[in-house]
Amino acid sequence: DGELRRWDGPVQEVYSPVHVQTPEGLKQQFLGSYPLLSAEKVKEVLEAAVKAYANGRGLWPTSPVAERIARVEEFALRMKSKRAEVVRLLMWEIGKSYRDAASEFDRTIDYIKSTAFALKDLDNTSSRFVVEQEIISQIRRAPLGVVLCMGPFNYPLNETFTTLIPAVIMGNTVICKPPKLGTLLYQPLLEIFRDVFPPGVVNFVYGRGANIIEPLMASGKIDVLAFIGTSKIADAVKKQHPKPHRLRSVLGLDAKNPAIIMPDADLDLAVEECRLGALSYNGQRCTALKIIFVHREVAEAFLTKFSAAIARLKLGMPWDENVAVTPLPETGKTEYLQGLVADAVAHGARVVNPEGGATYRTLFYPALLYPVDGAMRVYHEEQFGPVIPVIPFDDLDQPIRYIEESNYGQQVSLFGRDPEAIARMIDPLVNQLCRVNINSQCQRGPDSFPFTGRKDSAEGTLSVSDALRVFSIRTLVAAKGNDMNKE
Ligand code: G3H
Repeated sequence: DGELRRWDGPVQEVYSPVHVQTPEGLKQQFLGSYPLLSAEKVKEVLEAAVKAYANGRGLWPTSPVAERIARVEEFALRMKSKRAEVVRLLMWEIGKSYRDAASEFDRTIDYIKSTAFALKDLDNTSSRFVVEQEIISQIRRAPLGVVLCMGPFNYPLNETFTTLIPAVIMGNTVICKPPKLGTLLYQPLLEIFRDVFPPGVVNFVYGRGANIIEPLMASGKIDVLAFIGTSKIADAVKKQHPKPHRLRSVLGLDAKNPAIIMPDADLDLAVEECRLGALSYNGQRCTALKIIFVHREVAEAFLTKFSAAIARLKLGMPWDENVAVTPLPETGKTEYLQGLVADAVAHGARVVNPEGGATYRTLFYPALLYPVDGAMRVYHEEQFGPVIPVIPFDDLDQPIRYIEESNYGQQVSLFGRDPEAIARMIDPLVNQLCRVNINSQCQRGPDSFPFTGRKDSAEGTLSVSDALRVFSIRTLVAAKGNDMNKE
């Protein structure tokens, strides 16, 4: 409600995945702590957001579009001054390399600015008066109410802001729950939110999901759930709403994006793109390539090149220059990945690259597994980490069947030189998934592109302009008559 309040209750201590030398030996670096709000405190936050929206009568939802745009632009400007602090926290809190952390920050600023710019355009084109069948009408984009925004640890800033900013700029009020890993990095931004937006418009809640999400959802006062994370949690959160049919959802969920390497593919290009797709930020991206189908004729050549590409990757700390493999922030993650590798090996796969699967504290050396099949866990599970299952195929039907039978429906990467063979696959694939990448890795960006998925992968479409539509509704003001000059 426009205040930064002192908290004397229980706190969550946050430790970095990065270890440091202490008198007692190597320990994970202590970074700070954040409040664990009680259900009562969460209700106060909810009331602030509800009061600021005031059933659409609040100052913010009735404010002119130009005013909301100006506030968001001011926010972007002030946020820029916190770059060094936030980037440093991204490195320490979630182990993101300096290059990736800086790029996440810059991309988020661009996203905010582009959103403000896109709304100017949308407002220009959508709020014109139209006369039809003797009715003078104006279509207006109106807000939806109170939005609960929850983002994931892998892009704690960017993924949260891609829902928070469009929701706010469209006149909604927002409650934001930052991810458990990636909460401290919001600290430098809280005062800016407080100074730029009126009380109750942007609110933050910290704490354990069960304590803070349940009271918000069970109140029935959340109008929109904007959630990016796993489908399991999204389902559990949605069910807590007493009238789920009233709740709108904007969801970015799980994916297991495949690459398909045709026999005529440029293997150097395919390896470079698959490396980026499978291993950027240690494979911890919903858009990562998580399974690779390679034509049997070129499988060995592909694996040799891929293994050599992995050997060139630098392992180290987030701030090391050109580092590619950095510590994994999730508790128990290296053990989980080791389990996947052991299971694949027990079922007949081999670890192709010599160091693959080696661990050192929270570091996990990327593991290339071949030949993988449906008997192995890694064929089915979304590993969200640097384990790369490779499957040989003789007939294209095999990867296509995998996509059809999958619970996920985000993207695919096709590698090949024959434009006609590629062209024949586009329609069937785009009708199953939401993005077909040709001779390039899977990814979300640029952020102006539509980003969505089918099946368990998403609900609603995000992009700079799509998000403005997702967080608003087209309403109509209509008057009888056909003379626009008449009052
Ligand atoms: O985790 C999902 C992110 O939206 C990935 O974005 O493909 O641009 O890295 P990106």
